[in-house]
Amino acid sequence: MSQTDDHDSDTSRRDFLYYATAGAGAVTAGAAVWPLVNQMNPSADVQALSTLFIDIGGLEPGGQLTVNFLGKPVFIRRRTPEEIEQGRAVDVSELSIDRESRNPNKPGTDASDINRTMDDDGEWLVMTGVCTHLGCVPLGNNAGDFNGWFCPCHGSHYDTAGRIRRGPAPENLPIPVAEFIDDNTIQLG
Ligand code: FES
Repeated sequence: MSQTDDHDSDTSRRDFLYYATAGAGAVTAGAAVWPLVNQMNPSADVQALSTLFIDIGGLEPGGQLTVNFLGKPVFIRRRTPEEIEQGRAVDVSELSIDRESRNPNKPGTDASDINRTMDDDGEWLVMTGVCTHLGCVPLGNNAGDFNGWFCPCHGSHYDTAGRIRRGPAPENLPIPVAEFIDDNTIQLG
């Protein structure tokens, strides 16, 4: 993991570029890895980050990387075929709490699985890992009643697309501005 400052002669405008690598040690449950990742990022730098490049080349299906972006954990998950199938099988009409995609990369769309994922095949899911109830970091890796994420603070269950399915959280897990730069790199922001 390395970090590069893009030094601009105009110090009033400095872009911080941050690279995260999906190394073996970083691929684990979101809640477990978060404190470790957080310690590696001084808060001053975190606040200043405007763009984050994630190397996803080492992430296998079922793997998840948690990175710190603008002071919040962001989950990058490479979903398994089973998770994709479960997500795609859900009709929007079954979503009783939130039917919006909450995806600024696909604005105004409903919460169909395909509107939540980065790619059309549905393998890549990128979400801000902050429960929409009161802000806890949900547990991942097939947690909860819907095989996705579970927030133990007050019992919110999110499915394999990060959609709220049960509990007090009012909205699906939000998706940050994100895009693929190449096959192995996702840009946040
Ligand atoms: S903060 Fe997640 S359920 Fe309350």
